[in-house]
Order: sequence, then structure tokens, then C-alpha cells
Amino acid sequence: MKARKLVNDAVVTLKASDAIDHWQKGRERIEAEDLLGYVMGGEEPEPDEKISAEDVATFEALVARRATGEPIPLIKGSTEFRGLELKVVPGVFIPRDSTEFLAEQAIRRLRKRNAPVHVDLATGLGTVALAVADELPWATVYGTDLSEDAVALARRNAYRLGLDAHFVIGDLFGRVPRKLLGKVDVITMHPPYVAREEVDDLPDEIRDWEPQHTLTDESDDGLGLVRRTAEEAPAWLRPKGWLLMETDPDRAREVRTVFTEAGYRDVQSTKGGELKVTRVVVGRRPR
Ligand SMILES: C[S@@+](CC[C@H](N)C(=O)[O-])C[C@H]1O[C@@H](n2cnc3c(N)ncnc32)[C@H](O)[C@@H]1O
Repeated sequence: MKARKLVNDAVVTLKASDAIDHWQKGRERIEAEDLLGYVMGGEEPEPDEKISAEDVATFEALVARRATGEPIPLIKGSTEFRGLELKVVPGVFIPRDSTEFLAEQAIRRLRKRNAPVHVDLATGLGTVALAVADELPWATVYGTDLSEDAVALARRNAYRLGLDAHFVIGDLFGRVPRKLLGKVDVITMHPPYVAREEVDDLPDEIRDWEPQHTLTDESDDGLGLVRRTAEEAPAWLRPKGWLLMETDPDRAREVRTVFTEAGYRDVQSTKGGELKVTRVVVGRRPR
């Protein structure tokens, strides 16, 4: 069978699936081509290329998995983040493209510092910490997460990629070495920010495939961890250090209020990412 027909059939299957969130026009085709490229060892075939019966069977099985809502990174076992190939496993949050904007904001600030120090809270599989370690290899980088599975995967990703980042298991700053108190230039966080009551409203392919503790901190407004972090971060930051918090567009104003009430300076909501909707709220350490 030719690649073109295989992809077209897969698009029909994916479009018909209720388990997939069809939020982006053309997404099904991008995913079908991506999966076929994966089956073919990384190279997307030309539309007229004939695909072997064995590869057709493998591809169709993967498309069937995707049609159940299983995210592509779990099917492939990896995802790309700022040019890094990161391994993913079920039970650990899958990095989103939107978080590249958080990493970009951190890297831009850290690049200007001598001997920069970065802490990535709720690091998951090490997403932002690994990007910083890759792009600023002279930085001291720590990532921390409550989930043992996440930290184990972050360490494996760092080892595989030959990156120098330290990962610790802990509740917020709980296990960050105390020698970093007052010395951190940039703290990043992409927290679980969905309010408890709103988890059921999430698209199936997020709610059914990401562990609940990665989506919500079980607070009524989704700001429980944001508040705690805003309170605890000043002790860790250098005088002109920054706290950078990824949130969703609907919550940015409330996050800004949390920062302002906690005394942060230069508080702003920045907007970026491919769709120009990701919000990263930034603020400098209170005096
Ligand atoms: C939305 S995920 C973000 C993961 C990663 N930063 C990324 O963007 O790919 C939120 C992460 O917060 C972690 N988490 C939840 N509660 C936490 C806490 N109290 N302290 C540290 N990490 C926590 C979860 O285990 C999960 O990995």
C-alpha cells in the first residue's frame, strides 16, 4: 500500500475517534504522518512510497492505539522538547510544547547571570531543568518533584543525554539542598493548576492519560501550590532573582494577584508559545 493511502485512511480513523481532542485543524494528519515516520525508523516516507505489509500492520496497530486516546509520546516512548529527545513513561506527565515558552523565559534570564543557579519545581521528567542544562551547561541546575517515578525518569533522561542536572524527590523545596538558600537566580514551575472541580471537564485524552496529581493540587481554585511557592520562594532567590510560573490563560490574572500580594516586584504576565496563548507569570523576589 502507498504511504498516501495509509495516511488518508488513518486520518479518517482518527477524525472519527471520540477519545481524541480535535482542537487543532489538521492535527490528525500531522499525527498520522508522525506515526508513519516513526514506524519507518524516523523518516517520513514520500506519498508514493510503497509500504511493506509488515509496516502497514504495525502502523495500523499504532493508529488504533491513538484512536483510543493514547497520547502519541506514550505510543512512541519519547517526545521532543527544545530539540531534546526525552523518554516518557505512563504515570509521568508528558511535556507540552507550551512549556517551551517557560524554558525560553528562564534561559533568557539565566544567560545574563554569572554562575547561574536554576531550580525547576514540579519538574516532572525534568522538562525545563534539562533544557536549561542543555543550553547553559555552565549553570547549576536542580529539578524536584513529589513523584518518585518522575524523578527516576528525569535522572535517566539526564544520563542518556549527558546533561548535568540534579534531581531530588520532594514536596516543593523540601529536598533542595539548603546551600542554595538565597542563591537561586531563577525558579521555574509548571504546577498542577486545574481546580479539583474542573478535572472532569478536561479533554478525555488528558484526564484519562495523565495522573491526577499532575493536573490538580486538589485545591478549590487550582492555586494551592502557586500560593505556597510564592511564599516559600523568596528564601531561595537571590535579591534580583525571578520566580516564573506557567499557568493557563484563564488563571493568569489570579496568579499575578498572588505574586503581587506576596510582595513580588516587576510582576507581569507574558504570553507566548506557538499558539501565543501560554501564560508565564513572572515576578522578582520581594525586597
Ligand atoms: C503539570 S506537571 C508538570 C511537569 C513538568 N514541569 C513539565 O512541564 O513537563 C506537574 C508536576 O507537579 C508535580 N507535583 C505535584 N505536587 C507537587 C508538590 N507538592 N511538590 C513537587 N512536585 C509536585 C507532579 O508530580 C507533576 O510532575
